[in-house]
Amino acid sequence: MTFDNSKIVKALARVIDPRTGQSIIMANMLKDLKSEGNNISFSLEVGGLDAQGKSNVHLSCIQEIHKDYPSAEVNVHMLSGNPPPGAQPDILPQVKNIVAVASGKGGVGKSTVSVNLALALKAQGKKVGIIDADLYGPSIPGMLGLKNERAKVQKVYEKLRIVPLDGYGMPVLSIGFVIDPEQAVVLRGPRLGAIIKQFISDAIWPELDYLIIDLPPGTGDIQLTLVQTVPLTGVVLVTTPQTVAVDDAVKAMNMFLLPNVNVPILGVVENMSWFTPKELPNNKYFIFGDGGGEFLAKKSQSMLLGQVPLVKGIREGGDSGTPVFMDTDSMTHKIFQDIAVKTIKQVGIRNEMLPKTRKVDITT
Ligand SMILES: Nc1ncnc2c1ncn2[C@@H]1O[C@H](COP(=O)(O)OP(=O)(O)OP(=O)(O)O)[C@@H](O)[C@H]1O
Ligand SMILES: [Mg+2]
Repeated sequence: MTFDNSKIVKALARVIDPRTGQSIIMANMLKDLKSEGNNISFSLEVGGLDAQGKSNVHLSCIQEIHKDYPSAEVNVHMLSGNPPPGAQPDILPQVKNIVAVASGKGGVGKSTVSVNLALALKAQGKKVGIIDADLYGPSIPGMLGLKNERAKVQKVYEKLRIVPLDGYGMPVLSIGFVIDPEQAVVLRGPRLGAIIKQFISDAIWPELDYLIIDLPPGTGDIQLTLVQTVPLTGVVLVTTPQTVAVDDAVKAMNMFLLPNVNVPILGVVENMSWFTPKELPNNKYFIFGDGGGEFLAKKSQSMLLGQVPLVKGIREGGDSGTPVFMDTDSMTHKIFQDIAVKTIKQVGIRNEMLPKTRKVDITT
């Protein structure tokens, strides 16, 4: 019997990669397709899939080919590579870097930095996604013009998975897409943790260079669950310049640097650094003091990624759902571009110098 290889590829394109929800062809998993006599054989790169996922994909490949060639003998080789001894199973293997945006104090601009940094990374040609991990006060939907939108679910191999929404070309998930925006989230630690885990493990994330996680302020259950759920590449700390904000940011920093947490600090963004009135463009008023960002960068042995001034357009952009980065003529656009370039560099250095972060095993 002669097989039409393009027909086989078409059949395999109907098989879904459980990690990304994409076709296994789109996910580049197919290797070495051969057909001879009554045999069709090929390999699949399935590193990162768990046993159930591998078995689902395997069966599905055979089923789809049999729809066109019912009597073909199909041999699938699963190429999963050998994980090094002691390696943890891959969570989100399709995501290269997971970067959390954290602060000690509330209201210092984490969500603003998350959204504009994400867009700036995208403008650098990176594939970027966002998780809004602030379950008590989700601001990402509003900031990306996705208020009142609802996340859809998709069945992948009999399991319901959340599909992130699209915000300016980036996949985005927030509790705001699951509950009514005006409804209060009244949940205790374990439930909060379960939602964060669902956003990470039960959602369909495509291949990404950066997944930005916007955290709530402080060092609570959500931060703890996060470091227990995924190996974070690093943290971007956001602070305003004044001592009270920096003091709290040091506490957040210290949580990530705890020996058993051990998540590197990539750098510091100082927000609301100064105010420049339109009519006095050469004047800088340091309303909240100065030097806080630089101090925190030194203290965390990282770098100051940038200073963002107090600008009306930033608040307006956040409220209107059109982030200020979209205004390519604005000074803030350039500042975030610079922050993105420095972040990419810091991530590169981190990945070269340090081993992959391990997920934290805390039993208490
Ligand atoms: N540099 C800035 N200039 C003007 N307004 C800003 C600036 N940075 C943030 N804001 C505004 O300040 C408010 C708080 O910012 P944001 O929500 O980003 O802070 P947050 O740290 O995420 O807060 P929370 O701790 O509540 O999550 C928002 O209305 C935002 O638009
Ligand atoms: Mg926020």
